[in-house]
Amino acid sequence: MTIEERKRDHLDICLHENVNARARTTLFECVNLVHTALPELDLERVELETTFLGHRLKLPLLIDSMTGGTQMSLEINSALASAAEEAGIGIGVGSQRAGLRRPEVAETYSVVRKVAPNAFIFGNIGAAQLVKGLTVSDAKRAVEMISADALAVHINPLQEAVQVGGDPLWKGALEKIKELAASLSVPVIAKEVGAGISGDVGAMLEEAGVAAVNVSGAGGTSWSGVESIRALRARNEKVAALGEAFWDWGIPTAAALIDVRRRVKLPLVASGGIRSGIEIAKAISLGADVCAMARPFLIEAAKGGKAQVLSFIESLASQLRLAMFLTGSGNITDLKKARKVITGELAQWAGSS
Ligand SMILES: Cc1cc2nc3c(=O)[nH]c(=O)nc-3n(C[C@H](O)[C@H](O)[C@H](O)COP(=O)(O)O)c2cc1C
Repeated sequence: MTIEERKRDHLDICLHENVNARARTTLFECVNLVHTALPELDLERVELETTFLGHRLKLPLLIDSMTGGTQMSLEINSALASAAEEAGIGIGVGSQRAGLRRPEVAETYSVVRKVAPNAFIFGNIGAAQLVKGLTVSDAKRAVEMISADALAVHINPLQEAVQVGGDPLWKGALEKIKELAASLSVPVIAKEVGAGISGDVGAMLEEAGVAAVNVSGAGGTSWSGVESIRALRARNEKVAALGEAFWDWGIPTAAALIDVRRRVKLPLVASGGIRSGIEIAKAISLGADVCAMARPFLIEAAKGGKAQVLSFIESLASQLRLAMFLTGSGNITDLKKARKVITGELAQWAGSS
């Protein structure tokens, strides 16, 4: 199976199957922002703007790393990027391995910069590929391919372990990330893909010189689930059963965020199951600088292209604005200090680290 076929499967499964976590949730439901009956603010004056890695964003939101390498991804990336440009948010492309190997598909990634000349754009490579021989000069080519402002490096040991043809070779990955961070002219963002980054790992990544960490925790898209369905389709029952067993594995996004924020001073991205503007507000109150979402953006883009993506972003912004207003937060700096009560399982996670 080629990388392109795998990417096509991923899009198809993410669009047509329910691959969300099942029993596992992000635990944002345990974060209660305390209502402020006297906000002493005008709703329309609440400021959503922020700065992330030196770039201004009209709201603290990124379209997380997803796709590239196929005809369908060209259309999806084009719709997402033009919406990102207009809305003033950031956008990532999916793993650029296919584009590095086959220059003829580079356009499915570079379309993002073409239609979003001013947006904050980040490239994507895998830490497992670095271990397997992807070089610093390959990573530089990935950055140049899309004139990226930053490069995300995905750290996905669970996904690789339950993927037919995956690369569960992680010895030496941290050293490779360190070498990359020291050699690139753009900042490196270390990210998981939905199983979460712990405080310990966050601290190791900070020490290795990355510029930001995306905790990408559990409770949203399950990559063990996606790979399990792929394995089932390929009639590989053993791999399918392994993926099924680990469907809900991972650190809930809210718990990962609290744990990493305690240990790390770097800018943090919260992703993994973030589905509303209220959850964006909660994540920022727990220490995230910006939030990111993946599968919901894919679904909106496939449904109705740029217009649909823009109206989705607008609804997220309205919810975020109202949550800020109702916590008396006039801007993102205030929101970071908003009063909250943490209950239930999240309180246990927070207490046990
Ligand atoms: C269709 C699709 C493809 C993805 N491909 C990549 C990828 O190539 N590289 C990566 O770092 N993350 C990839 N991800 C993971 C997301 O960036 C994100 O970490 C994860 O899906 C959790 O966010 P969500 O619950 O909002 O989907 C992909 C996600 C989706 C839905």
